[in-house]
Amino acid sequence: MQNTTEESILILDFGSQYTQLITRKVRELGVYSEIKPFNIPLQEIKNMAPSGIILSGGPESVYAESAPHPDSAIFDLGIPVLGICYGLQLTAHYHGGKIEDAARREYGLAEFIVDDSGDLFKNVPTRSNVWMSHGDALTQTPDGFEAIGHTANSPFAAIANRSKQIFCVQFHPEVTHSVAGKQILGNFVHDVCTCNGSWTPTSVVEKTLADISQRVGSAKAICALSGGVDSAVAAAMAYRAIGDQLTCIYVDNGLMRKNETKQVSQTFTQHFGDNFVAVDASQQFLENLAGVTNPEEKRKIIGRTFIEVFEAEAEKIVDVDYLIQGTLYPDVIESVSAHGPSATIKTHHNVGGLPDVMNLKLIEPLRELFKDEVRRVGKELDMADAILGRHPFPGPGLAVRVLGEITRDRLDLLRDVDAIFMDSLHEYGEYENIWQAFAVLLPVKSVGVMGDFRTYDNVVALRAVTSLDGMTADWARIPNDLLALISNRIINEVRGVNRVVYDISSKPPSTIEWE
Ligand code: XMP
Repeated sequence: MQNTTEESILILDFGSQYTQLITRKVRELGVYSEIKPFNIPLQEIKNMAPSGIILSGGPESVYAESAPHPDSAIFDLGIPVLGICYGLQLTAHYHGGKIEDAARREYGLAEFIVDDSGDLFKNVPTRSNVWMSHGDALTQTPDGFEAIGHTANSPFAAIANRSKQIFCVQFHPEVTHSVAGKQILGNFVHDVCTCNGSWTPTSVVEKTLADISQRVGSAKAICALSGGVDSAVAAAMAYRAIGDQLTCIYVDNGLMRKNETKQVSQTFTQHFGDNFVAVDASQQFLENLAGVTNPEEKRKIIGRTFIEVFEAEAEKIVDVDYLIQGTLYPDVIESVSAHGPSATIKTHHNVGGLPDVMNLKLIEPLRELFKDEVRRVGKELDMADAILGRHPFPGPGLAVRVLGEITRDRLDLLRDVDAIFMDSLHEYGEYENIWQAFAVLLPVKSVGVMGDFRTYDNVVALRAVTSLDGMTADWARIPNDLLALISNRIINEVRGVNRVVYDISSKPPSTIEWE
């Protein structure tokens, strides 16, 4: 485990949609935590020597044939265990408790009543709302366990075996709807597992830097810089570790936003000097994309062209052995690992395929971190807020925001619209409140009237969402007056646009991008 304080919480994943959330909450409590599939070998757990183990929830019933079962010896390692939802049922099952299909299933908010406010429920209100999501329920406490809390429908909503340091809750403390959830998780990691809680994302920096310089030695490394947060922080870390042995390559694919290439080049030349290389490949990308309207086809062409351009550029640098890539933790873990014997690792979709094609060894300095943690690391490395606070931008860039055919003119038009939208969000202090915002050029024309003339021109859509991680999102409630101002500016200032619409769909069922 990448853990400089030697404290860690191991989270075994049984397939809950909230497993990642448990990890994040534990890290927020200052304790490094990582997710592993439920069935990792016992020896691996022993080698990790975690301070505590959390068993996640999961969709199965413990009696189902396909139910995920860990090595039951995890309960005898002398390591404190917290079972959540399915984790409670599993623990009870192994210790002789009785689990039945609940007569009254509980989904959503329930009032939880603390029956024993020792350890796990220290400083937790006697009555508080918790988030429940279960069909099966415990109807008889297992041997050696006692009930420490209940709800109207679950007489054993929390149980404990203090001599074995095993605690279980039927509800989800990791979900914000469980109002005392943070206190409960804190009691588990700080009091039961006796972690002091001094971990911060930046505590991985030193160790990672040492790892990179040791691995790379005197060899050379390259990095694809997109201008986004992840690749920028990954490159900054690598540069600290190996200095001039690193070359950063930025490919201008012609699908970037207004002035973006200029800004990125200025910023990174300041940081990396001659070791920053910007390549203008816009002509090549646009030629390859000519006449293509299918979004997936666009993505494939862009991916292929990127590899060609990057490879050609990298060949100019001799003796490169390593590729630095800004892969994040959510890309690495597979939250549904409960249904596979091992976690499959997704490749980073922006630069997927590069290490194989180029026969390079991969270094991923951020593979243990979540996005917000990456931003904190970037701050620690003195990186500018203008880079760290940027909204996410997809690898295929404006190609998936110019719906239909991509031409330089249509891209330029969208760039002008997008720039007005972004400038206005910055100017009125809304940019930071929004997870991602952008404009989309629609493949339709609409009728308008300007002065005394009838117009038949382009329609643009504005999209702005709030989100935690892009997995789900809600449309941002930008003040109406600001929307009015933005719409006026776009129609007045961008020739060729006579209508602006605001996207009010959430994800799911829509997605954030339009293509
Ligand atoms: P969706 O549209 O799937 O987007 O709700 C979720 C997040 O992913 C980004 N996105 C992409 N990023 N390559 C990328 O690097 C892609 O092909 C791609 N498609 C969507 C999107 O901008 C949002 O942040």
